[in-house]
Amino acid sequence: MSSVSRPHWLRRLLLGLAALVTVLLLSIGGCVSRVYVGATVSTVGSTEFRNELAIPPLAESVVRPDGTRVFQLAMRPGRKEFRPGQTTETWGFNGDYLGPTLRARRGEQVAVEVRNTLSEPSTVHWHGMHLPAAMDGGPHQMVAAGATWTPRWTVDQPAATLWYHPHPHGATEEHVRRGLAGMFLLDDDVSEALPLPKNYGVDDLPVIVQDVKFRGAEFDSSHRIFRDVGFLGDQTMVNGTMTPYRTVGDELVRLRLLNASTARVYTFGFADNRRFSLVATDGGLMEHPVALDSLRLSPGERAEIVVRVRPGERTVLRSNKLDAGLGFWTQRFAGGDDAFDILELRAASTLRPSPELPAALAHPSTPDGSDSVLERRFELNLSGINGQPMAMDRIDLTVTKGTAETWVVHNNDGMPHNFHVHDVQFRVLEINGAPPPDTSTGPKDTIFLAPDATAKLAMRFDGPADPNSPYMYHCHLLWHEDQGMMGQFVVVEPGQSAGKPPSHHGH
Ligand code: C2O
Ligand code: CU
Ligand code: CU
Repeated sequence: MSSVSRPHWLRRLLLGLAALVTVLLLSIGGCVSRVYVGATVSTVGSTEFRNELAIPPLAESVVRPDGTRVFQLAMRPGRKEFRPGQTTETWGFNGDYLGPTLRARRGEQVAVEVRNTLSEPSTVHWHGMHLPAAMDGGPHQMVAAGATWTPRWTVDQPAATLWYHPHPHGATEEHVRRGLAGMFLLDDDVSEALPLPKNYGVDDLPVIVQDVKFRGAEFDSSHRIFRDVGFLGDQTMVNGTMTPYRTVGDELVRLRLLNASTARVYTFGFADNRRFSLVATDGGLMEHPVALDSLRLSPGERAEIVVRVRPGERTVLRSNKLDAGLGFWTQRFAGGDDAFDILELRAASTLRPSPELPAALAHPSTPDGSDSVLERRFELNLSGINGQPMAMDRIDLTVTKGTAETWVVHNNDGMPHNFHVHDVQFRVLEINGAPPPDTSTGPKDTIFLAPDATAKLAMRFDGPADPNSPYMYHCHLLWHEDQGMMGQFVVVEPGQSAGKPPSHHGH
């Protein structure tokens, strides 16, 4: 009896188990495919451009008797109606969301009174600015709740579209996503003499692009499943305006694009595939305008483009799918399959004539690598740079003031990253062993790296020396930065060695 019933009993058990496992696998498979299918978003073609694009005001400043131009920035909580009838809690500088555009000239001494009226500490970093490390606003220059911090420096770099944002270690994504960001424009003799569109808010428009997500009236900050890149929104806005349009009255319009999103990479182009001219990258003007129909910008990067419009027409700035050779899974969950209608330009029925774009713009200001005294290698991985996560009390590199170096940066991870260096602008010498594409030939401070890509960068460290105050280099996907994809370097006098960064309680 037992010789018959046991196998029978066993078979039924096994069959039952097999059925259970099959059901489980199918439902996991079903969930995964649902998650996969639901992970992509597109606002292309379905966007009604209802809201006039807001232009951040130019920040007021006073010039002190000693010639210092002084700005005031207050970080504060706010409430903003992004969508009719729904008020969202936000943070902003001097206002509810984002901040005013600061503007200064090369050679000027500037000071910014940064007041933190939030209920937690933060910092303000001047992204792209060449300045003393103690004024940089990185994680060592925390501004306590209720405190004021007044960095000062002399602007000594070419005209450029820079920006400012908080940099508290471990909370940068959160502080930027809530709305703390603004532009910092620099002018110089070269930019002022060139016949480029330069009437701020008229034919020269700041275009701060962010992705956003709402849950009810409030921002939804959650990282959805498999989003190893951090927060990704399902809609975009420009200068804090949802579904924005802008009426333009000039034949040529200059757009100062800033990717102020925390993790999203955009591939900008126009819906009608019209060509446009790239005139400046992160750190300022290129040598010549470059004609393009598509331009990729990863978080933190800027580009100035000039686009021609005809009387009465409309054209849409769009972000298309990412074409960076990402694996099928990463492509989807890093937002690479997403597409957005970003901003509609509406040309007036008669347009003011604009001068032709000049054939030559500016002389290169970054080193070409020939006088580099050192080549360093950086391995990027979510677990850290060169195998180590960021430590506030560890100086990773010491650089000699006045020297140029070549930094070879390799993404050894399966996901996209980028690489940003404080204080300097660099020249991209090579990408994957080949000369960089035209789009990366201007001065840069942030560069996108697809999985396994290698970039060779040349930069000069002009100081001043300060062995105790580090500058940062990091991935500008802000959640990655928060996770520790960051390192610190100091600039020292020849022969001097690195000191100790100031200690911080609570870190
Ligand atoms: Cu825009 Cu270290 O950052
Ligand atoms: Cu920076
Ligand atoms: Cu990263």
